[in-house]
Amino acid sequence: MKKTILVTGGTGFIGSHTTVELQTAGYDVVIVDNLSNSKADVIDGIAKITGVRPAFEQVDCCDYAALEGVFQKYPGIEGIIHFAASKAVGESVEKPLMYYRNNLTSLINILELMPKYNVKGIIFSSSCTVYGQPDPEWLPVSEAAPIKKAESPYGNTKQVNEEIIQDFVKSGANISAIILRYFNPIGAHPTALIGEVPNGAPANLIPYLTQTAIGIREQLAVFGDDYNTPDGSCIRDFIYVVDLAKAHVAAMARIVEGKNAEPVEVFNVGTGNGVSVFELINTFEKCTGVKLNYKVAPRRAGDIEKVWGNVDKANQVLGWKAVHTLEDSLTTAWKWQQKLREDGIM
Ligand code: UFG
Repeated sequence: MKKTILVTGGTGFIGSHTTVELQTAGYDVVIVDNLSNSKADVIDGIAKITGVRPAFEQVDCCDYAALEGVFQKYPGIEGIIHFAASKAVGESVEKPLMYYRNNLTSLINILELMPKYNVKGIIFSSSCTVYGQPDPEWLPVSEAAPIKKAESPYGNTKQVNEEIIQDFVKSGANISAIILRYFNPIGAHPTALIGEVPNGAPANLIPYLTQTAIGIREQLAVFGDDYNTPDGSCIRDFIYVVDLAKAHVAAMARIVEGKNAEPVEVFNVGTGNGVSVFELINTFEKCTGVKLNYKVAPRRAGDIEKVWGNVDKANQVLGWKAVHTLEDSLTTAWKWQQKLREDGIM
């Protein structure tokens, strides 16, 4: 019998790619999404790729009764992957209460319902943002690095949610949890049937870059070339979204098979390589043949200078490794941008 996994935020960028990989690995998926930042037709893309239409419920995880209805409608959910959250750093500074309400309430509701419906475990989407700017001796940053005070309400919701999970498990709740701390997810499915669909002007590098390359934006601003890095631009660990999706499948297998060593485990999910913004732009130009219009602009407030992951723990314990190159990621991101244009979406 196929095991059923509930994926909240399953029509979003990482959620949709993870749904594809879960289905491919033999799971049944139920997606819950309030469509606040995605569209229902993402389900069509998923179904085209896998040949299987995931179940879909348009429900807001903050609505306890509606969420409970999902557990009643689909008995036997074994695991949950919780992506549904507000995720724009800048917006969270302007609307902190919205961020705290959405991101905390939804997790609390899910945790409350898990024991009631005998759900074994949860995978929580966290972020390397919890490390802030790691001290030099902590680069590449491992899971053991100190957690730094969050720079934004968004970042704080990730930290607090990690603590909520820890506290709930400590209280004796009979569930297990795997916290995945993502580095910078980029790219799109190689079929270009699903990808990232930014809402308005993108805040993140890759969608802004591909929108500039296709002519939606005039110019990409590189935020700062005077950082203490070899070329002066910031350094990140850019991970291909399909690799990231597969990390969730590995983590879910660990949960449903009861192989976790601790009730709460934390894993970095990245490539282990730091790449600068300029290096990324050069790679994009090389692998797509497109010349990018960009200029150096002042630093962006709140940016981390350099961070990349030590991913040994995920490699060894989850038996998972990021296998795709930056070229793969950028080629698929570009293909996806062209598909959005073809479809008249943007
Ligand atoms: N950048 C530019 N120009 C742009 C956009 C970004 O130069 O138009 C630069 C940024 O200054 C940064 C790098 O590209 O140096 C990456 O920026 P992103 O906004 O794409 O990603 P961040 O690393 O700032 O943030 C991401 C996620 C957050 C998460 C964080 C963890 O968006 O959700 O990683 O570090 F919290």
